[in-house]
Amino acid sequence: MILYNVNEGVAIISWNMEGYPMNVLNEKSIEAFNGAIDKAIADTEVKGIIITSEKDSFVAGADLNMITRLFEQKVDAKQGLENARALNQVFRKYETCGKPVATVITGHALGGGFEICLASHYRIMVNNPKAKVGLPESKIGLLPGAGGTQRLPRLVGIEAAAPLLLEGRELAPDKALQTGLINELVSDKANGIEAAKKWIAANPNALQPWDEKDFKRNKVVGRVNYKVPGGNIQSPKGAQVMLPGTALLMGKTYGNYPAQLAIMNCVYEGLQVPIEQGLEIESRYFTSLLMSPVAKNMVRSLFFALGDANKGVARPKGVAPTNIQKVGVLGAGMMGAGIAYVTALAGMQVVLKDVTLESAEKGKDYSRDLLKASLSKGKITKEKEEQVLALIKTTDKADDMQGCDLIIEAVFEQRELKNKVTQEVEKFLTSTAVFGSNTSTLPITGLSEASTRPENFIGIHFFSPVDKMPLVEIIMGKQTSDYALALTIDYVLKIKKTPIVVNDSRGFYTSRCFSTYTTEGIEMMAEGVNATLVENAGKMAGMPVGPLDVADAVAIDLAYKVMKQTELDTGEKIEDMPSGKVVKKFVEELERFGKKNKKGYYEYPENGKKYIWPGLQELYPLAQTQPTLEEAKKRLLHRQAIEAVRCLEEGVVADVADADIGSILAWGFPPYTGGVLSYIDMIGLAAFVKELDELAAKHGERFKPTERLREMAKNGETFHQVYAKKKEKMETVG
Ligand code: NAI
Repeated sequence: MILYNVNEGVAIISWNMEGYPMNVLNEKSIEAFNGAIDKAIADTEVKGIIITSEKDSFVAGADLNMITRLFEQKVDAKQGLENARALNQVFRKYETCGKPVATVITGHALGGGFEICLASHYRIMVNNPKAKVGLPESKIGLLPGAGGTQRLPRLVGIEAAAPLLLEGRELAPDKALQTGLINELVSDKANGIEAAKKWIAANPNALQPWDEKDFKRNKVVGRVNYKVPGGNIQSPKGAQVMLPGTALLMGKTYGNYPAQLAIMNCVYEGLQVPIEQGLEIESRYFTSLLMSPVAKNMVRSLFFALGDANKGVARPKGVAPTNIQKVGVLGAGMMGAGIAYVTALAGMQVVLKDVTLESAEKGKDYSRDLLKASLSKGKITKEKEEQVLALIKTTDKADDMQGCDLIIEAVFEQRELKNKVTQEVEKFLTSTAVFGSNTSTLPITGLSEASTRPENFIGIHFFSPVDKMPLVEIIMGKQTSDYALALTIDYVLKIKKTPIVVNDSRGFYTSRCFSTYTTEGIEMMAEGVNATLVENAGKMAGMPVGPLDVADAVAIDLAYKVMKQTELDTGEKIEDMPSGKVVKKFVEELERFGKKNKKGYYEYPENGKKYIWPGLQELYPLAQTQPTLEEAKKRLLHRQAIEAVRCLEEGVVADVADADIGSILAWGFPPYTGGVLSYIDMIGLAAFVKELDELAAKHGERFKPTERLREMAKNGETFHQVYAKKKEKMETVG
């Protein structure tokens, strides 16, 4: 696991975890590493230590399975603190051992992996542009708990350290050198070892700049008056970073993300004392995060569930890997143009069809523009730009679809047109080709009736803008085969997006739940709740934008169109639908369609910032009693959550993890909750049901808990428990 060799008086401690694609810090590897460090310190022949890796990555971070074990053990605060201190003690031991310690970073050094490096006195990195160093813990609700919050600002200054710690930014070797995270770049590991030996020979008594030798006690201790580069916390420069930094952070997160706040505290408190106490402060904050539900939810959804989805966990096991070479895209409008771009970028041939060659070329312009921008930013080479463009063939002829492995239809949202293009193209396809529709509202089973091969018909729902949005919602029609699903998942993974799989239903999963956010916001405003309060409640609850703002961006007339189609298909009157009356009025009477005609719930002045349309208050006068902020937030989030529960019970979304990931990636449900069902688990089902009953009594049936939810609450269950059991059973049977 950890190799140990002494060579010319230098101990080389090299990470080499078998059975792991990358080295990680877990109970066993930490113990082995600690043992190797002890041996090197005790050996009087050893004059210096090199820490490196046998793999072409260094150490990728803490094993999140270990972190999960810590979550599950439900350790008390005291035990948690002991655990947090343990790793810090190992690192502090070699940092103060009196022998020079260098790291040779062979590739990725992230999280705990980079903290190993920070505790060494000299950092040498192999110049592989794909390798990254950094402390990404804050992205999953944690903080760098092995000295990262203390050593990084002491090394590079508070200002440079802040974005690396708070946003978890990772740096390539050249940037890491520029910022001072590493000391030297080398071409390969062998050169790195040579350079490390040279440095050790020249620095026999290496010390960290924040430490000094206490000759009386013959030991290395943290300096009391260490000067942080760029200024100490209490200096004017430090205050310039910390004060606005805290305000900015609160402005961005509304206090929903305890990790970022804890990091600020670690830096603020820890940099006023010698490093030993700083590390103790960090351990305490780390323990508090470990015991909070936010980190647990974020790790589960954004690391494990997302990782599984990105590995294609939903792909049917029995289907051999597919080899998609050529993809036909029907419709070169906003969506088709984006789909063509991401497909060609992933190296597949694209046939982009529209009604005229000119329209198809216009669609290809989207790729031309994006590639040009990437080229000018130096992100791609001229050769890459040409390669990608050469992969996109534009056409106005259906027979050019011959030889396509997959067709993605993105023509106008009209059933008859979609049926027509399906039939037009299908006759040129082989029996293995799959036909996918990017419809946003029309049920897939109905659309597949136009096909002679409904088993090869599937929904591939992208989000706009296609090149930026990370999720693709795959919709199974009644007859869609495992093969079609497997091929579609293969395609989604090839374009490096996250697939979730859902069953057919109106609005599928994501649009159905997302629309409850906007409709609830509109309902509140129409009841006389101050529109500013509605918008702020949405943002402060953690949604990316307020409900009225996003309703304007999506377009009010589009929402009206969907309502009309629903009325036609189900018989439910628009006036009886949540927000129906308002939407109808805005489109039919007021012609306020949203951002697109610069008139919606907001006003969009030519040369100024948008603001809430003052006419709202005339139409919907303010109610005498306004809800508290907490009530308004609850209404907006609970409404989405109960819709997700219904989707799960109806089988629209089959998987709790998919429901959670989909909610975060598709419509921006607050990541700190871990997703829409984790949110309910976090509140507790009994409390959630009680709150829903109260909301239903006040605001209507749409909040009413389902019977199954009541039963789960009564049994003390949680969604993730029930799901974990079900999954375990499936895996045992499978
Ligand atoms: P769009 O109006 O920008 O583009 C549609 C394109 O289809 C036009 O360029 C049109 O000329 C072309 N077209 C019409 N008949 C055709 C035919 N017979 N053969 C080939 N091309 C034909 O529409 P947009 O926004 O790209 O939407 C396309 C589809 O994607 C719709 O079904 C929509 O519901 C769905 N969708 C839209 C999203 C959005 O945010 N706009 C998000 C997810 C899905």
